[in-house]
Amino acid sequence: MNLLLLGSGGREHAFAWKLTQSQHCKQLFVAPGNAGTAQIANNIPLNPNDFESIGQFCVKQQIDMVIVGPEEPLVRGIYDFFLENKDLHNIPVIGPSKQGAQLEGSKAFAKKFMADYNIPTAAYQEFTLENLEEGYQFIDQQATPIVLKADGLAAGKGVLILDDRQEAKQALKEMLEGKFGAASNKVVIEEFLDGIEFSVFVLTDGNSYKILPVAKDYKRIGEGDTGLNTGGMGAVSPVPFLDDKLMEKVISNVVEPTIKGLQDRKIAYKGFVFIGLIRVDGEPMVIEYNCRMGDPETEVVLPRLKSDLLGLFDAVAKGTLEEQSIEIDEQAACTVMLVSGGYPEAYEKGKEISGIKEVSDSLVFQAGTAEKEGAIVTNGGRVIALTSYGTDFKAALELSYKNAAIINFEGKNYRKDIGFDL
Ligand code: AMP
Ligand code: GLY
Repeated sequence: MNLLLLGSGGREHAFAWKLTQSQHCKQLFVAPGNAGTAQIANNIPLNPNDFESIGQFCVKQQIDMVIVGPEEPLVRGIYDFFLENKDLHNIPVIGPSKQGAQLEGSKAFAKKFMADYNIPTAAYQEFTLENLEEGYQFIDQQATPIVLKADGLAAGKGVLILDDRQEAKQALKEMLEGKFGAASNKVVIEEFLDGIEFSVFVLTDGNSYKILPVAKDYKRIGEGDTGLNTGGMGAVSPVPFLDDKLMEKVISNVVEPTIKGLQDRKIAYKGFVFIGLIRVDGEPMVIEYNCRMGDPETEVVLPRLKSDLLGLFDAVAKGTLEEQSIEIDEQAACTVMLVSGGYPEAYEKGKEISGIKEVSDSLVFQAGTAEKEGAIVTNGGRVIALTSYGTDFKAALELSYKNAAIINFEGKNYRKDIGFDL
């Protein structure tokens, strides 16, 4: 098959790594890709949100399947664009329809969906500028801290957790007045949940589903989960505290009703549901849905998947996922993100990266990298994810940390405490 993968991060390098291992993969194109995907696939300089150009490319190159990495093209409706175009409707897109992507694209949609299907999540209300006063009253009635969420996509920055009610009111007003652009025209205020977070990844063809390896990521820039939020500084899989009993609850209370809810609403969904969960008093509760895989979670989930990913995608496209089985590696995997100095705030690009070739016992998934005059240079905040296997996450981490010291670029930073809370 000829495949087109959309995206340019470590997640997409991991997808490319896994897909090119399939005997059914004839050619893999990545739009736009990075210096890592360039080594194993063909990068093409197309914007994943430019559906017209993506469509033309698919016709010209006889693409058999499109796999969507990031959320934005999904929320903008790439699935529907292909389905509604006579030249493209036979090319399956792995990812949900525009309506399905609302699980991530609108917090208000996701909260209502969970309420309708009795899926455990924090109590909430939604507000716009029209009922700002009610918002203030609601804040007065809430215990602190107060959780404010921009309804729409805000590049991972749309959630504020504030200890002070006055600050929360101020923040609500600023959000509704456009702090995150149109994404915060509506704001969800919800109950603060106290517990430990983990993530579950579900692949569905809309009827049946498979559960992929679970993971836990580390979002804050600073050790001990302090400082600003990032896209993710590291991840581990499996999650030691996620025992069979908790997993059974996740499946029966969250996964099953989610898939049934999508069916019930006749929402086309052929892709990933990434469920961000928190354990509160032994019970799983949903923090958020994403309509795609996580980054850097993909860099630990796919290395533990023994089954042929392309075979699974083909079954998703054909609606025969039920007939597939999935095999998971018993070993643990962890990943450590090397990031640019200053990230997640301002940082410089174009720093030469050395040492990649010297790494032999970790997988090097490149994220913000580019080729420049024969060298690989930094081209983003998150630069390289170093993934290792081990008998447990500690053994795996030891390898990643050994190799984190071998790869160098000016300003290199990484968290030295991934897994500290496990
Ligand atoms: P989200 O974008 O919804 O995943 O939120 C980003 C982060 O904010 C989550 O990973 C949590 O750490 C935190 N968070 C979101 N909602 C809540 C909540 N209701 N209670 C506690 N923490 C939350
Ligand atoms: N690592 C979190 C995310 O991909 O949303």
